[in-house]
Amino acid sequence: MKQYHIAVIPGDGIGMEVMPEGLKALRAAQERLGTFELHFEEFPWGTEYYLKTGRMMPEDGLKILEQFDAIYLGAVGFPALAPDSVTLWGLLLPIRKSFQQYINLRPIRLLPGLEGPLKGKGPDDINFVCVRENSEGEYAGAGGRVHIHTEHEVAIQTSVFTRHAVERVMRFSFELARKSPKRKLTCVTKSNACQYSMVFWDEVFAELAKEYPDVTTDKWHVDAMAARFVTHPETLDVVVASNLFADILTDLGGAIQGSLGTPPSANLNPERKYPSMFEPVHGSAPDIYGKKIANPIATVWAGAMMLDWLGETQASKLVMDGLIAYTRARQHLTPDVGGNASTMEAGDAIAKKIREQ
Ligand code: NAD
Ligand code: IPM
Ligand code: MN
Repeated sequence: MKQYHIAVIPGDGIGMEVMPEGLKALRAAQERLGTFELHFEEFPWGTEYYLKTGRMMPEDGLKILEQFDAIYLGAVGFPALAPDSVTLWGLLLPIRKSFQQYINLRPIRLLPGLEGPLKGKGPDDINFVCVRENSEGEYAGAGGRVHIHTEHEVAIQTSVFTRHAVERVMRFSFELARKSPKRKLTCVTKSNACQYSMVFWDEVFAELAKEYPDVTTDKWHVDAMAARFVTHPETLDVVVASNLFADILTDLGGAIQGSLGTPPSANLNPERKYPSMFEPVHGSAPDIYGKKIANPIATVWAGAMMLDWLGETQASKLVMDGLIAYTRARQHLTPDVGGNASTMEAGDAIAKKIREQ
């Protein structure tokens, strides 16, 4: 029987509340099929750990994680206890970068049964995928501050776009579009204002487009794209965007699919040299932490993406079918999507549906 070793990092805030429900769903799929085994090892890394030890994870944290087949993460950051710039650069971002998880796949899909805020737009209209460049761009971490706390203070945060990284994310997106029903790829840009980085980004896109004549392409500035997410989501199929642009657009994606508690995120190392990481798009939600009302859908969905990535396609489909059976039934939904169930009740209902598939 196939064995998988999964590193589980619940992290901070509601990450600790939704993770047990994600694990419940995965265990339900494992028990239902009985064709593979998942071994979870949990790591208590995050802001509490930082307050105790001065580090978000141990010095050899990445070495430890490298042994696993995949990483399943809740959320990182709790700004009331420690600055985000310290916590995120101490745990989440080093994993994405060190493990060369340069593709961040973020499906945007209104699940049947859930209601989005867009009038007249249903599950058939809101169903596309965003490919986020996950290794550089605005998140390159290049920059600095000088003359700190004087009136001459300067802060520089430099975006870095390399041919290597732009080409690989574009190529991945073209390949994905080639396999998708509409065979359409939309490039998100801002080459009207960013005359170096985004003009270069557009050039690489145009060069690669020649290799994929079967894929229909278009190009939109990010500001207009934000509006298009709301007014014409049905015209989108695969969308490729830089690190920061896609970060912003995918929270908007969460909103149009009914709640930020629903979209998942897969940080992929396509070469499989390192483990990939699966997590919800949302963060630790300090405003609802402790109330036990966080929606576990995004975490369960991320778990389904993880199974798919591991090659357990049938199990992945089982989790998705169970999740959709749950949203369709409109029972035991959490408050963000119009119900009054707790996180745990929602998780139990999802696991039950998975077992019933
Ligand atoms: P957030 O995503 O945590 O919350 C934004 C809003 O969405 C809040 O009103 C919250 O209650 C709601 N929300 C989020 N997830 C929900 C869920 N599962 N169910 C119901 N409602 C949900 O964003 P934020 O408030 O900007 O960030 C809080 C912290 O999380 C910060 O430290 C931030 O840096 C961090 N963060 C981490 C990740 C990550 O680890 N991948 C992602 C985003 C933000
Ligand atoms: C996300 C988050 C992170 C990001 C933050 C917490 C650094 O917002 O995964 O979308 O910007 O990538
Ligand atoms: Mn984000």
